[in-house]
Amino acid sequence: MALGLFAAAVLAAAASLAAHVGLNCPIELVPSPTPPPPPPPNNLLQRLEKLGEGALDAPEDVHVDAAAGGALYTATRDGWLHRMHPGNGSWERWRFVGGTGLLGLTPSADGTMLVCDADKGLLRVGEEGVTLLASEVDGSPIRFADAAIEASDGAVYFSDASTRFGFDRWFHDFFESRATGRLLRYDPRTGHTTVVLDRLGFANGVALPRDEAFVVVCESSRFRCMKVWLKGEKAGHAETFVENLPGCPDNIRLGSDGYFWIALLPSRSPWMDLITRWSLTKRVVATFPALLEWSKSTMKGAMVAQVSEGGDIVRVLDDSQGKVINFVTSANEFNGDIFLGSLATNFIGKLSLAQVTTLEQGTAASS
Ligand SMILES: *[C@@H]1O[C@H](CO)[C@@H](O)[C@H](O)[C@H]1NC(C)=O
Repeated sequence: MALGLFAAAVLAAAASLAAHVGLNCPIELVPSPTPPPPPPPNNLLQRLEKLGEGALDAPEDVHVDAAAGGALYTATRDGWLHRMHPGNGSWERWRFVGGTGLLGLTPSADGTMLVCDADKGLLRVGEEGVTLLASEVDGSPIRFADAAIEASDGAVYFSDASTRFGFDRWFHDFFESRATGRLLRYDPRTGHTTVVLDRLGFANGVALPRDEAFVVVCESSRFRCMKVWLKGEKAGHAETFVENLPGCPDNIRLGSDGYFWIALLPSRSPWMDLITRWSLTKRVVATFPALLEWSKSTMKGAMVAQVSEGGDIVRVLDDSQGKVINFVTSANEFNGDIFLGSLATNFIGKLSLAQVTTLEQGTAASS
């Protein structure tokens, strides 16, 4: 009898949970691709030096101005663009934009800075102030402007991560993996924005190779980056640039040697591996915001990959448990160092690649 009551109580609880999930689950699931296994950890990112520590709130992207001797620029959650003087390492609040959603930033040939404001769209930030360049495309709002790059013809390629969720709910998009992201192109001559490639699984970093023969856009929730040809016979054609990345690709940046650096977000934890096995558990987790936030926090670690112009992964550096730097969102090479941005730090990481190479060789020799 007691067992019967217990069973009835369990059934009632399950039914009310099912009703709650059915009514309130914000996501419409599609099967998500399985994350590729990460390589053995090397923890080489733990060797970094911290720049601007304490003054930078979640500096997601970093731009290095080579012409200015390595001046660093980043955008933070307080709505400021910050700049570091290469000569004395001092940081200044350079330009105020406002909001909490400033992400990718990239220079424009006219001396202004192009900034992706996840909440507003593509911005131009100059001495005279802030101009909104694009907030919609073909009548559809740009929901989540994420990263941008300007081509030598003046066109700006930029990503709209998701048409379903904004920056504050980015993890919903990952979780749902419905692939509604887009690569967009802003034409400064006409002021119009067009769609270059759509149905992207969280459209994130955007980059151009040295010859600008194609444009790359990363799909975080599909562990790959695509390329769209801009020149030659295949112009307009899209194909895979790099796939099976050992994490979710975030920003991608061209290095001085023609190789790209891609920041990879952690994609796995024992808990995530468990709950993503069944669509029911995914739906239950997505229904409870606190549970979803907690699930996100189980994924720890930082990883960056160096990729050739042909799309081969040549090296991966990590901090496998995120002990020194966690959740790296951008990696940018300049003058033998890489500079690392993150949504989970209050500093920019600086790592000497010469030191990393010495350590890698030492490990190879001793094994
Ligand atoms: C650092 O250098 C910049 C540019 O030369 C200068 O404007 C700034 O005052 C310097 N800051 C410090 C703390 O020395």
